This record gives sequence, C-alpha cells and structure tokens, in this order.
Amino acid sequence: MNKILVIGSLNVDVLQQIERLPKEGETLAIHNKSTNFGGKGANQAVAAARQGADLTFVGAVGADSEGKSYRELLEQEGINTSHLLEKDQPTGTAFIMLEDNGHNTILVHGGANMALTAKDVEDADEYFRDADVVIAQLEVPGAAIKRGFELAKIYGALTILNPAPVTENIDPSILANTDLLVPNETEGAALIGLKPTTNQKELERRVSLYQAKLSLTNIIITLGEDGCFYSVNGKVGRLNNAIVNAIDTTGAGDTFIGTIAAHLDPKFENVRETLERATLAAGLVVSRQGAIPAIPTAEEIDELALETESFV
Ligand code: RIB
Ligand code: NA
Repeated sequence: MNKILVIGSLNVDVLQQIERLPKEGETLAIHNKSTNFGGKGANQAVAAARQGADLTFVGAVGADSEGKSYRELLEQEGINTSHLLEKDQPTGTAFIMLEDNGHNTILVHGGANMALTAKDVEDADEYFRDADVVIAQLEVPGAAIKRGFELAKIYGALTILNPAPVTENIDPSILANTDLLVPNETEGAALIGLKPTTNQKELERRVSLYQAKLSLTNIIITLGEDGCFYSVNGKVGRLNNAIVNAIDTTGAGDTFIGTIAAHLDPKFENVRETLERATLAAGLVVSRQGAIPAIPTAEEIDELALETESFV
C-alpha cells in the first residue's frame, strides 16, 4: 500500500437539506440541517487511510474548536498531523445545499485553508522524501501546491491532482508536475475550454487535447452516475458505477481519489483493479449521508464486492 502525502483543505460541512434551490428573492425552508467534517483534502486523506494507507496531512485549520476537533479526528484515523498548522483564520466551512433529487450545490469559505503557504509545505520536506504518492486539490493556494509538486518530483513521488473546485486556469507549472489528473466531467471540460460530455467517442477524442493543451498524459475523468473514463499509461477504458441507492453524493469523488491513491501502483500496473475498487468505495459514500462519516473501510468495500461480484 502506498505512503501518501495530502496537501489539502479541511472544511466543516454544514449540510442543509432542501426541496430545491431558492430562486432570486425567494425564501425557502431548510427541512434538515447537520454538521459534518469534510473538505476535499481531508475527505481524500481519510478515504486513503481507511484503506490502510500511511498518511501525512499538510494543511491548516483555525485556532478554534472546529480546528481542534478536526485534528483529533485525523489522529483517530491514524493520519500524521505534524504538519497540520494552526492559522489566524477560522477553520474552513462549506455550506452544502442538498436537494431532494440528490443534487448538491456548495459555497465554501476557505478561511485557514487559504493561509497555507509554500513555506509551510517546504517544512514537511522529510515526508515528501518518504512519499510514494502526493495528492492535491484546489481548495488551498496554488503556491502551496506548486511547491509541493516540485518537491514530489524531486523525490520521485507520483503526483495526483484533483482540479476541484472547477477553474479554467491552473498554474502551468503545477500541471507540468502532475502525473495523473482526476477531474470530474465539468472540471475536465473546463480545463480544455469545452462543454462537459459523457460520450465515449468524444472523451476519447479529447485525450489528445489534454496532451496538446496541458501536456498531461494520464487522466481519469469521473462521470457521476455514468461511472468513469480513463486514459492511463496508454490504456483507454471505461467503468460503470456500482449500483446503489443514491442519498448524498458529497465526497464521492474524493473517496474515489483517496482509494486510487492508496492502491495504485505508481508504475500504473493495476489501473483497472484499482478503479473497480475506487468505484465501489464511491458507491458506498453516495449511499450514505455526509462526506467523512460516509467513507468506507477496506472491509466494507470487500463486502460490497462479494455482494455485487464486481470485484475480487
Ligand atoms: O468534495 C466535497 C467537499 O467539497 C465537501 O466535503 C466540502 O467541504 C467541499 O469542499
Ligand atoms: Na455521502
């Protein structure tokens, strides 16, 4: 199993269940409200840790009670928090509007996440030396990711970038140091200036655009209920989703990525098996509420695999 370093965000997720999003000028009732731990970085780290991987987290929380609880939570998951810093900003918060049809819309206050610096990342040098895989998303400043991926390449780790939340512009030096890009269909399309698609032929055609426009060779695109598409190490393919009763999709993509990071052979020898496992993990998250509370353990994935006979 891989040794993983995550450079990423931690958010307190305020989940608000609503019938539908309000229109301009309209007031609607929230019919259920709960607070959970989430944030793309933390979700991915916990997903990988629950697979049994060795994790170091480089990130920031505020000097508040949420930050304190968050540190305890990561430690309970066995994640190394020696580079989880405390900043003079509140712990990040994500306000998630979950509609009755299962769709979600998120507003994020970055807070302490946005105070993470390149120097903070450099201070974790000894853990970069040790890492097989370094993961980042875009909920912390680009300068921190840029330095982290430079260090990862110096020490020979595999870098995985989840370009989320969506943006059209990512520092080209981050992309140049990215070994594997894992966007969803919207993020993937935005990066090459096109509309999202789940059409297989079109996805195949776009692989060469990622190479030409972004110098990226390896990409896995998550397609929501349509599974995922991959072009890794010259192999192109597609996987369907695990069939589950969808309750809340929050954290599904993050769990998919964390599971990949835990199991993927850095030389890409086991792409298909790893994606099958990651697909099952994401399916379990979708079937339960919240992000971190919904993330499965390795045993739960094994059980689902047996039930569905989709992964051995
Ligand atoms: O990817 C899901 C995450 O995005 C949520 O947990 C929320 O914190 C937002 O950052
Ligand atoms: Na969920």
